[in-house]
Amino acid sequence: MTAHSRAIHSNQPGPHQDLARRVERSLQHAWRKPVADHTREAFAQAKDWLAARPRRPLMLDAGCGVGLSTRRLANAHPDCAVIGVDRSGDRLSREHGEPPDNALLLRADLVDLWRLALAAGWQPRQHYLLYPNPYPKSVHLKMRWHGHPVFPVIPALGGRLELRSNWALYVEEFALALHQATGIQAAVEAFDPGETPLTPFEDKYRRSGQTLWRLVAELPHRPELLPG
Ligand SMILES: C[S@@+](CC[C@H](N)C(=O)[O-])C[C@H]1O[C@@H](n2cnc3c(N)ncnc32)[C@H](O)[C@@H]1O
Repeated sequence: MTAHSRAIHSNQPGPHQDLARRVERSLQHAWRKPVADHTREAFAQAKDWLAARPRRPLMLDAGCGVGLSTRRLANAHPDCAVIGVDRSGDRLSREHGEPPDNALLLRADLVDLWRLALAAGWQPRQHYLLYPNPYPKSVHLKMRWHGHPVFPVIPALGGRLELRSNWALYVEEFALALHQATGIQAAVEAFDPGETPLTPFEDKYRRSGQTLWRLVAELPHRPELLPG
């Protein structure tokens, strides 16, 4: 069956002119927005859940939506503890079956959860950013993860980071920001998930005939990337 999801349209002809300046600012100036209570509570729950699964490598599914990818990653990696995070309680509560014992679905704001995770010394083995909201208007650069003040926390956590999007420019900009922050050059590549898409958005875009893009980077754990 085909689907009808329109390709991303943006008023940007190429990488945003302000990207390097925004990344530099996030690397130079600590972002001190207070952590919301609900995410602090969710993080405490996640810590207890992880403590009950000692020695299991951690996988993060950041912006997991309804959590299908979290369930699939957990089933594919039974030795790992997989935490899917989304701020939408509505999406997380949709009925897709009980997650396996090595998967946790957590309602939390990533901008806070990532900072708490880094402060607690979490070192994910794998970190997925699957189809983040693109915010394609150029005026919304600061809402894309690489234009957001929290950006340095993502590479600082380390691990195998995988970003997927149906918008090549999002992945290209992320690669530029990653290089600026870490010196690591990650290739941007088109890819085909075949008959086994990992997420509902991936499935929708694929069935609409859109090209899917991704970037994979092996990152060392580097908390010092954050300004003091
Ligand atoms: C386009 S959806 C993709 C969902 C899923 N990864 C997929 O591919 O089907 C983006 C998701 O990111 C979540 N999200 C956006 N900003 C977030 C934030 N600050 N904290 C947690 N989740 C966030 C949204 O609620 C939404 O579910």
